[in-house]
Amino acid sequence: MKNRTISLETLLQEGRKFPPSDPFRRQANIQDPDIYQKAAADPEGYWARWARELDWMKPWDQVLEWNPPFAKWFVGGKINASVNCVDRHLSQRQNKVAILWEGETGDTRRFTYGELSEQVNRFANVLKKRGIQRGDRVAIYLPMIPEIVIACLACSRIGAVHSVVFGGFSADSLRDRILDAHAELLVTADFGWRRGKRLFLKQSADGALTQTPSIENVVVVAREGTPSKECPMKGGRDHWWHDEMGKVEASCPPEAIDAEEMLFTLYTSGTTGKPKGIVHTTGGYLTGVYATTKWVFDLKENDVFWCTADIGWVTGHSYVIYGPLANGATVVIYEGAPDWPEKDRFWKIIEKYKVTIFYTAPTAIRAFMKWGAQWVDRADLSSLRLLGSVGEPINPEAWIWYHHYIGKEKCPIVDTWWQTETGCILMTPLPGITTTKPGSATKPFPGIAAEVLNDSGERVEVGGGYVAITKPWPSMLRTLFNDDERYVKQYWSKWKGIYFAGDGVKRDEDGDFWFLGRVDDVLKLAGHRIGTMEVESAFVDHPAVAESAVVGRPHDIKGEAIVAFVTLREPAKPSPELIEELKEHVVKKIGSIARPEEILFTVDLPKTRSGKIMRRLLRDIAVGKALGDTTTLADPSVVEGLKRQYESIEAG
Ligand code: PRX
Repeated sequence: MKNRTISLETLLQEGRKFPPSDPFRRQANIQDPDIYQKAAADPEGYWARWARELDWMKPWDQVLEWNPPFAKWFVGGKINASVNCVDRHLSQRQNKVAILWEGETGDTRRFTYGELSEQVNRFANVLKKRGIQRGDRVAIYLPMIPEIVIACLACSRIGAVHSVVFGGFSADSLRDRILDAHAELLVTADFGWRRGKRLFLKQSADGALTQTPSIENVVVVAREGTPSKECPMKGGRDHWWHDEMGKVEASCPPEAIDAEEMLFTLYTSGTTGKPKGIVHTTGGYLTGVYATTKWVFDLKENDVFWCTADIGWVTGHSYVIYGPLANGATVVIYEGAPDWPEKDRFWKIIEKYKVTIFYTAPTAIRAFMKWGAQWVDRADLSSLRLLGSVGEPINPEAWIWYHHYIGKEKCPIVDTWWQTETGCILMTPLPGITTTKPGSATKPFPGIAAEVLNDSGERVEVGGGYVAITKPWPSMLRTLFNDDERYVKQYWSKWKGIYFAGDGVKRDEDGDFWFLGRVDDVLKLAGHRIGTMEVESAFVDHPAVAESAVVGRPHDIKGEAIVAFVTLREPAKPSPELIEELKEHVVKKIGSIARPEEILFTVDLPKTRSGKIMRRLLRDIAVGKALGDTTTLADPSVVEGLKRQYESIEAG
């Protein structure tokens, strides 16, 4: 088994343990350490208790129907996500702020629950007016502006399925996702800001729309209220958001959605070149995100909750929108980047909005470390009371830095492990109960049955293996969009009836889990998930490329970076210009998150006698390790030559 991201030695050097402080423990939402046994003794009863904290239009008849690997939760129940995130707060929280938004250029907007309700109702009516019906897919390609939340909730109100595509993805990526989901309407914006530049999303979407016949209407948000001149509109198809919103009623009755009807699909990368549409349904997903937000983040009525993730990723779905809003929280949303206009952007936002709970990614924390504590010291962070980490393993140095400089040694840190597929956090400390260890995501959330298993499915009590979830949980993916077969093969065929997550993990003597990175060909680039095959397909799409193999190499800030080995087609010749051209080509095909760090031209790739590319060897070359066994190679000299070439480049 290979673990690329982080070595266990590094993880375990930091031996300190951090029990919850007494003051924190005493006020925590969950203080009972027996909750783990109680939940395990009756998981269905436990999850049903959580589900009862939501508002249902009709109670369920059966908590769980499990035909492995197909699960149905809260069978027969009817519920509406927008009612749970908005309407049900109106009696007590009509004037409570739901969204505090800060644009990159310093513009701000805020929405109370009452105001959010009107916006969601109106946009739901816009969708209906434009022909969207229950079950239809709506693609959302927006910057981090409040309309992204409004659009998602409006879909959920009428039972339409949202498919959010990260605004940093290319036109090609958008096109592929629209086609796979067969989306009928697209919501986009004229532009969004990032690092002082305008990103023209609608222009990019227009590139996709020439090849997406399913899209009948496009609703375009004017980022600055007045339409940008650089935003061509196609008559009959493209409509401005603000025009549409003015023409509809302010009230739209919510649909009573079956617990198992789809809430959204979100595409994520796997080991093939084709991203997969993860399917989440309504009742179980909401139960999972509601419960974890309340206990993991210890959310209270007066908290100001800031999850820095983009809504284009699952973290934004679960912990910017559905989890916090189902709890009636105040959330902060920001547009832009942590280092623009200056490297204290995050700390200024925390000070300005008196953020109490802050949830970000290790890649950001490592960047803050590099920039230095002087940026942190420019702001008053005394409002903070809890910190979270997500997206990749957090190295102990980064954990300690986060604890010391951001948490001022008083805030618990919750290192939360989960996936697009799991819907909500599965492994995490409970901040009022768990003794944390820097680098460990500690224990499964109560009600989650997780194990460490080896290849043959035997339980590893103490030691390394793969993380496995042995019982269904409410917010689990139900399938892959239109692809049950791939769902079964990908997640449920390593061991029968057990979920295979694709992560390497080690359990220590206390039963705590230490995540070690992916064990497949999925990369984590600055926390973003990209499959090596997707990048390889982008390379071979270029006329100069014959073949390519992509591997990840550890990177100080990003966690991992792309190294590509490329063979050229005659008459192309290696050159620095071609390297740049190929990097740009990959960015154009996928998006800037996939920009290769290094490209190495080679006359051949190391292959087994049966013709399979030996990535392990390429990875070894990329990290500068001595080469292991090369006897199965068709031509061992290929790899020796490559290694020498790589070393000479690195040295030069
Ligand atoms: O490898 C694990 C890593 O992120 C993967 C899931 O990526 P994605 O679906 O994009 O969702 C990311 C946000 C939930 C996992 O398979 N991962 C996520 N959180 C952690 C982590 N690895 C270690 N520790 C974490 N806390």
